[in-house]
Amino acid sequence: MTTLAFDVYGTLIDTHGVLTALEGLVGDRAKAFSNSWRDKQLEYAFRRGLMQNYQTFATCTRQALDYSCALYGVELGDEQKQELLAIYRILPAFDDVRLGLNQLKGAGFRLFAFSNGEPEALESLLGNAGIRELFEGVVSVDDIKSFKPNPGVYSHFLRQSGATGSNAWLISSNPFDVIGAISAGMKSAWVKRSPETVFDPWGIEPTLTVSNLNELADRATEVMTSKKT
Ligand code: LAC
Repeated sequence: MTTLAFDVYGTLIDTHGVLTALEGLVGDRAKAFSNSWRDKQLEYAFRRGLMQNYQTFATCTRQALDYSCALYGVELGDEQKQELLAIYRILPAFDDVRLGLNQLKGAGFRLFAFSNGEPEALESLLGNAGIRELFEGVVSVDDIKSFKPNPGVYSHFLRQSGATGSNAWLISSNPFDVIGAISAGMKSAWVKRSPETVFDPWGIEPTLTVSNLNELADRATEVMTSKKT
């Protein structure tokens, strides 16, 4: 049986769902602000992993918000920051997600969520998006106090889900996550949600590239079941 580990932020859940709230606060700089916030959030997680100075992903998110406010000269009060961070806990799923996951579950794949987020934040996010019940389990890097793409977090996923690298796929829109999983011995599908997204030219290619989860569901049985791979 093939196990699928779904990255959460950026793959199932749209991190730019804060845009409307940001537009009210920073006007036409909302898109740039949102990009900076997301990029810094990931950079802080990478750096904390390397430095072995773990704080939760929520802390990375909050500190990246503070950084972006300073960068753009936006003065937000504690209450406004708390409002933005509260929206981050109820971000929407992308449109293709519910149907795609249902199709994959129906086709007999084991589905897990696997994320940098803490268990409690993930439960709230997936529950709010109405997709929690589609997953057999939710695996968080918080258990081992490190972040993707530390190879240890992918091993942790395999141990938690009872899968092996040869029958487990990471499904992610984040190229660093795809490369991390393949380097750690898993297979990986890159969900290239926008035609402009560029994959890192490291010489490590995704096992499969799709544009959304419906395409993944259409191709999964042929490409991802262990007989064929
Ligand atoms: C996650 C980040 C990488 O959900 O988006 O793990």
